[in-house]
Amino acid sequence: MLENLNEIEKTALEALASVQNESDLESWRVTHLGRNSSLMQVFSGLGGLSKEERPVVGQAANRVKVALEATLADKTESLKRSTLERSLSEEKLDVTLPGRTIHQGRLHPSTQQLRRVLAILAEMGFQVYTSREVETDQMNFQLLNFALHHPAREMQDSFYVDARERGDNPILLRTHSSPGQIRSMQEFSAKDPKNPPPIRIAMPGMCFRYEQITARSEIQFNQVEGLAVGEGITFADLKGMLTNFARRMFGVQARVRFRASYFPFTAPSAEVDVECFVCGGKGCQVCKGSGWLEILGCGMVHPVVLQNGGYDPKRYSGFAFGMGPERQLMLRYRINDIRYFWGNDVRFLEQF
Ligand code: PHE
Repeated sequence: MLENLNEIEKTALEALASVQNESDLESWRVTHLGRNSSLMQVFSGLGGLSKEERPVVGQAANRVKVALEATLADKTESLKRSTLERSLSEEKLDVTLPGRTIHQGRLHPSTQQLRRVLAILAEMGFQVYTSREVETDQMNFQLLNFALHHPAREMQDSFYVDARERGDNPILLRTHSSPGQIRSMQEFSAKDPKNPPPIRIAMPGMCFRYEQITARSEIQFNQVEGLAVGEGITFADLKGMLTNFARRMFGVQARVRFRASYFPFTAPSAEVDVECFVCGGKGCQVCKGSGWLEILGCGMVHPVVLQNGGYDPKRYSGFAFGMGPERQLMLRYRINDIRYFWGNDVRFLEQF
């Protein structure tokens, strides 16, 4: 019996020496220390031994059990350590490497500026009205009081859409956001032609001109058109509203001036300048020495245009303005080339 125990111990230790991983170790434990192991059978056989043999064999069996359990504990420990060492050396992680930055998307600078403009206008009660980008000559020019061969059209060379022959009314990409004045007035006046409702809207969107692309001019750009129509609206309302807009957009200290101008669809017409915020009005390269920067065109809606929109000019009056968010951004950030806006260069876009 004692010899048998020595054999059990020897076999078990030999088997343990060749165990290389945790699952083999577990099956070793089941085989050599488990309920059905030879060692445990010795324990359960103790009852059948004589009084003299029982304590001797019992003690010897206990010694083997304690010894095997101790070796098992050591082996478990050393296996754990070598597994850790392997994973440390195989899956090397250099924690001193600089992290990779996550590229975060953002709104295009023009969209950001459009939203700034619309937010200020919204506080003044202007609701967004979306007009179309593809227009008829009639909407883009004729109903806005540009006569058929009026030279003012040459201010805005156009992209024409290849459509069937349409005589004097070809289809084109809108050259400004002003056709939205006609579209909106016609839509609102149609609801109640005898008593058309007052209007206070902002119309954002892309405009297109057939121009040579240079640092100063692009073939596409955004505009925000404003239109207010009602009874008793005067040029004083236009001046007050736009002065207030400029202060909110460019800061309370911003000085503005109104310069007489000409547009076929407004009378009187004006252009609004803000004091150059680069030089503070002294004159610099950005303002070309004048001390002022032009930010928008505006005027009182021309009686013919009111009429074309279904609003009786004897009863109603109104003002309109058109501004370019890209232009405002160029002034604000001293961007010296308009081509950056649609150039799709992330190095530019990432700065906003
Ligand atoms: N539509 C004009 C332009 O693009 C700007 C403007 C709008 C002027 C509204 C007066 C009133 O230049």
